[in-house]
Amino acid sequence: LIRSTHNLNCGVSLIVLTCCLFCSVCGLPGFPLPCASLTSPVFSSSLCPVQNIPPPARYGGRHTVTLIPGDGIGPELANHVRELFWFCCVPVDFELVNVDSSLTAEDDINNAIMSIRRNGVALKGNLETNHNLPPSYKSRNNLLRTSLDLYANVMHCQSLPGVKTRHRNIDIMIIRENTEGEYSSLEHESVPGVVECLKIITRVNSLRIADFAFQTARQNGRRRITAVHKANIMKLGDGLFLECCKEVASGYPDIAFDTLIVDNATMQLVSRPQQFDMMLMPNLYGNVVSNVCAGLVGGPGLVPGANHGEHYALFEAGTRNTGRSIANRNSANPTAMLLASCLLLDHLKLPAYAHMIRRATLSTVTETRMHTADLGGQASTSDVIKSIRNAIQSTGPLTQSI
Ligand SMILES: *[C@@H]1O[C@H](CO)[C@@H](O)[C@H](O)[C@H]1NC(C)=O
Repeated sequence: LIRSTHNLNCGVSLIVLTCCLFCSVCGLPGFPLPCASLTSPVFSSSLCPVQNIPPPARYGGRHTVTLIPGDGIGPELANHVRELFWFCCVPVDFELVNVDSSLTAEDDINNAIMSIRRNGVALKGNLETNHNLPPSYKSRNNLLRTSLDLYANVMHCQSLPGVKTRHRNIDIMIIRENTEGEYSSLEHESVPGVVECLKIITRVNSLRIADFAFQTARQNGRRRITAVHKANIMKLGDGLFLECCKEVASGYPDIAFDTLIVDNATMQLVSRPQQFDMMLMPNLYGNVVSNVCAGLVGGPGLVPGANHGEHYALFEAGTRNTGRSIANRNSANPTAMLLASCLLLDHLKLPAYAHMIRRATLSTVTETRMHTADLGGQASTSDVIKSIRNAIQSTGPLTQSI
């Protein structure tokens, strides 16, 4: 039975069952996860008794997720995610959509947007934005966020034991407005030598992001939100943002709220980052501050990021580095992308799979200390992946919590 299953194309329909068998056939004997804990009822049979009913999934019990590999180290990391999902029998099928960021035509990105509209969820590597292209060329990363109205960017920066950094015990959640502010792409040269860039702040979107932040704080047990602004200079724009944050804050008496000017905020971050719990800010400050925070806890290879909208969600590495200089050298740190895939699994309500991959990924960083060059180690990407697989195998069968 096992052999004949192996000869089938594992990529379609019966997948969960075949995948489990496949895993044990393909050089991974003793794969400890029993089918029972991994299959959905759709695939239950006498071979795979199901104790617990997992949350509803789509397309015959499986989720389809758009996968945009992106530039630089993106494609190799996307492959590692796919292989690891396969290894763990995760009930997710990826729809691969390539976006060529060097093309000025928007066909590729429109295909990607269409695919995400269809699937609702995406995992993405970073897309490069060439500064030398004409102003009409919009950043593909930005285009995805605005077209799909992914208004909230969430990044959780947490110190990891075993990763050498200047500061310890950092645990900050950053909520960034993702669709307006300085990213309106509204610029013009009114007379030669004078350029106006429009920063758009609206009441609707400011209330929306503030409400998202307070709800997220509640869900994650956060106690305090700090809104970051420059309302002393941009009295109307940032003033409105701040006003909306205060208004929303009054509806959440259980969560403390304070405000900080962006210059002080960045100074406080690099000198005493432990004071922050959750930070809430408009687009550009959010971009800058989240990169500062990623740097504080170990760099772009470690921190995942999520973009949420009303209808869609997009998961990626937390910062926009494409890692072009280390592409295809088997030296990139896969942690951020793997943790992004765990956020994706959380979002799909597959917490047991998310936990399995997250635990193995984090223990490889903090306990095995299998570190790539960015963390000062000598391990290759595939060394790290191998260690993660070993950790998954050694943690034994999943509990029945699926
Ligand atoms: C800067 O931030 C610190 C703590 O976050 C605060 O105590 C201090 O008053 C702030 N300074 C100014 C000028 O706002």
